[in-house]
Amino acid sequence: MTIDRRKFLTRSGVGIAATAAGALGSGLLPRTSDADATGASSDGGYGGPGGGVPDGPSLRAIPFHGDHQAGVLNAAQSNATFAAFDVTATSRAGLAELMRTLTSRARFLTAGGVPSNLAVSEPPSDSGTLGPVIPPDGLSITVGVGETLFDDRFGLASQRPAHLTTMEAFPNDDLDPDWCGGDLILQICAGEADAVAHAIRDIARHTRGAMALRWKMNGLISPARPDGKSRNFLGFKDGIANPSVQDPAVARRLLWAADDGQEPAWTAGGTYHVCRLIRTYVEFWDRVSLNEQQGMFGRFRDTGIVLGDTSPNAVPDYKRDPHGKTIPLTAHIRLANPRTPATEESRIYRRGYNYDLGVDLNGNLNVGLVFNCFQQNIKRQFDATQKRLLNEALSDYIAPFGGGYFFTLPGVQHSKDWYLRRLLA
Ligand code: HEM
Repeated sequence: MTIDRRKFLTRSGVGIAATAAGALGSGLLPRTSDADATGASSDGGYGGPGGGVPDGPSLRAIPFHGDHQAGVLNAAQSNATFAAFDVTATSRAGLAELMRTLTSRARFLTAGGVPSNLAVSEPPSDSGTLGPVIPPDGLSITVGVGETLFDDRFGLASQRPAHLTTMEAFPNDDLDPDWCGGDLILQICAGEADAVAHAIRDIARHTRGAMALRWKMNGLISPARPDGKSRNFLGFKDGIANPSVQDPAVARRLLWAADDGQEPAWTAGGTYHVCRLIRTYVEFWDRVSLNEQQGMFGRFRDTGIVLGDTSPNAVPDYKRDPHGKTIPLTAHIRLANPRTPATEESRIYRRGYNYDLGVDLNGNLNVGLVFNCFQQNIKRQFDATQKRLLNEALSDYIAPFGGGYFFTLPGVQHSKDWYLRRLLA
């Protein structure tokens, strides 16, 4: 078949859809690995949640099958991309086919293996960017759906997750529609940036005609310096205080979709993902005194320890500091988590990445945070936290400009299962 290259490169190059669907399953031959093991996602050999330094150039495979998708509970890998797509499939059957293709690619890519060998007269089955054998490199592909998937296109309106809405614009936001929303989001994480880039390219190729990229932001986590959690571009350790969602009882309360009669049954095992693209104005930040910077967060910059304390494990005691003499009342950590019984249920599980978009039109560094948090109920948790943060001192140095609210799908449980099967089969 001759492909019109110009047409192929347009968003509506649907002619290729059949080729993509036909290629399903013929790409990567799975290698025998523990990626086929069933059971909930494990930490994939990374140490603890929310940090730590991966141990080598190619990490081992993270099990693909389980009640929950990988990419939430396992410690954040060093590199990531957040890619939002518009679904261009026009029927429910087309959406189901897209989900099967997506599942199949994610299953193969996370396991790693040898791409199939096509005739040299054919386009190669794989981009080749990782060489002849694809390493698993701790790859996780986490699929979420946006509220717009539940409009009238696929007859899914009655099955919308109970707390899934369009992302609200908060007073300090400067949202750019080109960087917002999406019917689907893929959070792709791996040890190395090339493994992430390879995966998104493979998926985009195999799903062309059924979904189109809307926005994409690469993320990175720096090595821990000198230890503990890694730092954001404002120089502070990030990801220190997080609810212990490794404990299933905590996860049931704060993380996984509730079994409360409000959520459609298919959502069991899923969670809500808030992704916010937040620019940090580092040139302004660098002109602020260290005292003031530390007061804005409520922690020491060098160590990450809470102000007024010396122990790395110290937990702030705001009752003993009612007027904010030690940790200012406007400090980020104090407003984000006041640690009162009333705010206990609004805690969120954060899994952030730094981003670097180069230079803006004024010659300033265009860098920031891909803020991600996972939770059971966006209104009760992220929204409540964000509203407490509205007047924080930090807000002069940051600008949220994109992202969205998504529902991270339940895990793919076995080799015949696929994303959204419970809803679409
Ligand atoms: C560019 C934007 C942001 C930066 C640079 C930032 C940075 C930080 C830092 C350095 C900490 C202290 C270390 C830690 O516990 O991880 C922290 C804590 C925290 N942040 Fe943020 N953050 C940002 C945005 C947000 C947003 C949008 C939210 C939620 C709406 C949020 C919620 C929290 C929470 C809940 C904590 C933990 C507080 C505690 O339990 O003590 N952050 N953040």
